[in-house]
Amino acid sequence: MKFFVDTADVAAISELNDLGMVDGVTTNPSIIAKSGRDILEVTKEICDLVEGPVSAEVVATEADAMIAEGRKLAKIADNIAVKVPLTWDGLKACKVLSGEGNMVNVTLCFSANQALLAAKAGATFISPFIGRLDDINLDGLELIEDIRTIYDNYGFDTQILAASIRSANHMSECAKIGADVCTAPPNVIKAMANHVLTDKGLAAFLEDAKKANIKIV
Ligand code: E4P
Repeated sequence: MKFFVDTADVAAISELNDLGMVDGVTTNPSIIAKSGRDILEVTKEICDLVEGPVSAEVVATEADAMIAEGRKLAKIADNIAVKVPLTWDGLKACKVLSGEGNMVNVTLCFSANQALLAAKAGATFISPFIGRLDDINLDGLELIEDIRTIYDNYGFDTQILAASIRSANHMSECAKIGADVCTAPPNVIKAMANHVLTDKGLAAFLEDAKKANIKIV
């Protein structure tokens, strides 16, 4: 399973990238707004840092305008994935932009039918939002399972990019289901390293090392 980082925080991306934990990056207008930086400038900086796909999202809502924005975003770097919302106009933009050879990430997916349409429209990535479904008492992970089944039934190439990840548990559950990619904030990726028994075990080892005066260097 590939790891994308869901942030525009260049320092955080850089730290994870140095560890080999970054297969790509996702942003959205809220993430760019939070960074306080110009979208074109910060996206270029991320594209220079990371080899894999970097999603940059359009803000237009009408297909022709989305296509124009998508073409401009795609010019930032070869590894741009243009992100369009899962609306009828977004599907039209997906079809055109993917037909022109661009990677397209169709975002704000909340149903299996939406994912089916995105695959038919040539999406490179479909982004089902797990956390936001969980927030309204629906099962986000069940959606990932349903999309996996449908895409496998028909051999669609569109990659399932599980998004709106809120916990380390979401990461392992997506890996078990067979999501192609998970995009998560840096703190969630780091939290995957945590285990209470690791902390407890390390504390005991260090205590014993101190008692026995074990020194290595
Ligand atoms: C990624 O592509 C999405 O924009 C992101 O995962 C949304 O996450 P959120 O629901 O935590 O805002």
